[in-house]
Amino acid sequence: MRIPDNPRVLVVGSGAREHAVLRTLAQSQRRPVLFAAPGNAGMAAETTCLPVAVDDVVGLVQAARDIAADLVVVGPELPLARGMVDACQAAGIRVFGPTQAAAQLEASKAFAKAVMAEAGVPTASHQTFTDAAAAKAYIQQQGAPIVVKADGLAAGKGVVVAQTVAEACAAVDDMMLQGRFGASGQTVVIEQCLVGEEVSMMYFVDHETVAPMLPARDYKRVGEGDTGGNTGGMGAFAPVPELHHPAFVERVTNTIVQPLLAALKRRGIVYRGVLYAGLMVTADGPYVIEFNCRFGDPETEVVLPLLASDLLDILWAVTEDQLANVAVRWREEKAICVVLAAPGYPDAPQTGQAIVWPADGLTQAGAGGLALVYHAGSREVDGVLQTAGGRVLVCTGVARSFALARKIAYEAADAIYFDGKYLRRDIALHLDAAD
Ligand code: AMP
Ligand code: GLY
Repeated sequence: MRIPDNPRVLVVGSGAREHAVLRTLAQSQRRPVLFAAPGNAGMAAETTCLPVAVDDVVGLVQAARDIAADLVVVGPELPLARGMVDACQAAGIRVFGPTQAAAQLEASKAFAKAVMAEAGVPTASHQTFTDAAAAKAYIQQQGAPIVVKADGLAAGKGVVVAQTVAEACAAVDDMMLQGRFGASGQTVVIEQCLVGEEVSMMYFVDHETVAPMLPARDYKRVGEGDTGGNTGGMGAFAPVPELHHPAFVERVTNTIVQPLLAALKRRGIVYRGVLYAGLMVTADGPYVIEFNCRFGDPETEVVLPLLASDLLDILWAVTEDQLANVAVRWREEKAICVVLAAPGYPDAPQTGQAIVWPADGLTQAGAGGLALVYHAGSREVDGVLQTAGGRVLVCTGVARSFALARKIAYEAADAIYFDGKYLRRDIALHLDAAD
């Protein structure tokens, strides 16, 4: 594998996940020249941002050409689902991520369920409906608790874990009759409710090798104590102490990831990129809640800071089917992140508030560990940093213990101000005793 010096790398996306990818790439021994499209205010302060939206595949490929990119790294699911990787390959541009066919694993829950059934991968039993009355009849018959999901992409918000039949039926009406998620909600999947511990397992994957990342947990509910609606994620930590051992990871690799990749191959689909398995560890072992075809957000903001190997070498190796020849190593540390959200998130986030940083920076927060602040929905208007999305900033603490990592993350989170700033106070709280 020959990687040029100072490779030109374009990271597609504008969230904290992409900011974390960019920062990790910036540490590469290859000394890459980094670009982001469209990026955000935080990324713009560290690299060159190109004003192309993530859904503009043609524009993104042109941007990659214009900067003579040696590698394109696609962050979000939308361009993957729209064939960004296929378009780059057709243009002869090296790209990290799954093809459009492979990205269906995330873009269509019905497709994912069909492949899991073929592969014998444990997952919740389910039925797919395009008719609201039939969906509600099935809910009546199954009883509660039960899970209702919009079939297409809904930014992590298209899932209702209903505790009662009435709540589940209301969710069906919301998605199918009120059009809450547009076309994504016209097909719904009704699923058995799994009970257990949730964990996100991400893997680097090439044509025949898989390399697991550290097990991570995210906090999807908006409210403390896991109450309220689902969000894109309010915080995360890694590793998950009780699952951070080889036997668990091997079980996931052997019973979930490898059979799934084999089933895709039988359909003529070779998966390359990051495969994200959202799992529920039940009394019967790990079950798949969902697959994502990309790095998780906010899991990436706690997993990549713990990577001890060179991320650029890993991503490059995947594009060459050389992953087997690259070591993927992790630090023996802990990481916790907390999301600073705009008021009104997730339903109706208000934006345009000035973001105020402490005059003395975040230096004191870093004592005994590392505070990292990744930007998500931020922009600069006339030299003033402003909120520009639901999730605004992500504060990560990295340290030898969870307690210290937590302290560092929250000190940074508290030191930054904007009107109506909302955060959960209970991220990784139970782990203070686990160190
Ligand atoms: P998803 O967008 O599919 O990841 O679902 C969002 C969240 O809903 C998950 O992280 C789980 O907390 C919950 N969830 C989804 N499916 C199920 C299920 N079958 N049983 C229990 N909880 C679920
Ligand atoms: N953290 C869940 C996701 O990235 O979809």
